Amino acid sequence: MEAAALHKPVLVAEVLAALAPLAGARVLDCTLGLGGHSEALLEAGAQVVGVDRDGRARELACARLQRFGGRFTAIAGTFAQAAEDHVARGERFDGVLADLGVSSMQLDDPGRGFSLRSSARADMRMGEDAAEDALALIDRCGDDELADLIFAYGEERLSRRIARGLKRARAEGRLESASDLADAVRAAVPGHQPRHPALRTFQALRIAVNDELGQLDRLLAALPALLAPGGRAALISFHSLEDRRVKQSLRAHRDAGRLADCARHVVTASEAEQAANPRAEPAKLRWALAPGTATLPPSSF
Ligand SMILES: C[S@@+](CC[C@H](N)C(=O)[O-])C[C@H]1O[C@@H](n2cnc3c(N)ncnc32)[C@H](O)[C@@H]1O
Repeated sequence: MEAAALHKPVLVAEVLAALAPLAGARVLDCTLGLGGHSEALLEAGAQVVGVDRDGRARELACARLQRFGGRFTAIAGTFAQAAEDHVARGERFDGVLADLGVSSMQLDDPGRGFSLRSSARADMRMGEDAAEDALALIDRCGDDELADLIFAYGEERLSRRIARGLKRARAEGRLESASDLADAVRAAVPGHQPRHPALRTFQALRIAVNDELGQLDRLLAALPALLAPGGRAALISFHSLEDRRVKQSLRAHRDAGRLADCARHVVTASEAEQAANPRAEPAKLRWALAPGTATLPPSSF
């Protein structure tokens, strides 16, 4: 299947507006994925460096973006590392984009163990760099550590009960696949819930396995030094743990004068986009502007 069919990018027009002007701009796409945002940025005249930790995503995105020749380059690995490497070399960007989390391709691939119904090993690694998959994490953590992690990253009130249930299921040989994991959570949680009771636990394990918040913190710390004078950043988050970090970090940079300005309000998808792509529903975009803006028009938000 072609890249464009595997993941629909969210808030594309809003990202282009937040990062404009784009003609000739150098943009770092921290989350290349299937290349949807990068394609739009390239079509608007930018040069794009795209980072992804997922080898399959990079392969498909490179095939999709081949027609842009030398204006597009892909980098393997994590965006935290890529950001810090560019800062260390003194390389700056006119635009930085991060569209956080997993792609629809990763979620929908039954072999990756991200979805509740997958019969494959509960793996949940986005890329080659993560040392430990979700099952290895469950095995390594004691009950309390696992419960704390499910509480912190899944905002799950029943984390202790769920952690005990998962450890018991592993000890009894009942927990190997992602669907086993979903069943073990359901068995540990009393009563009927409107949403699947394992969704928050899946989110927590995925965040922990991929150190998603640690990655985001490192990118946010590097952001002012990564942006050229007058450069712009657009960050899209999909849950409150990410959005809170983005909001607080951008405000702290602005208040300390490391950024000239940042979004006062989040930008969300229109009703039409949400209807066409349910994944866009929780998406929240925040922008930032680096100091040295004299030659650039104000952001349209
Ligand atoms: C939401 S998708 C991005 C989709 C992309 N904007 C598009 O239009 O196709 C997120 C992508 O970022 C990658 N990713 C997530 N966290 C990462 C990190 N810390 N470092 C590198 N890549 C990451 C994932 O592997 C996934 O392919």
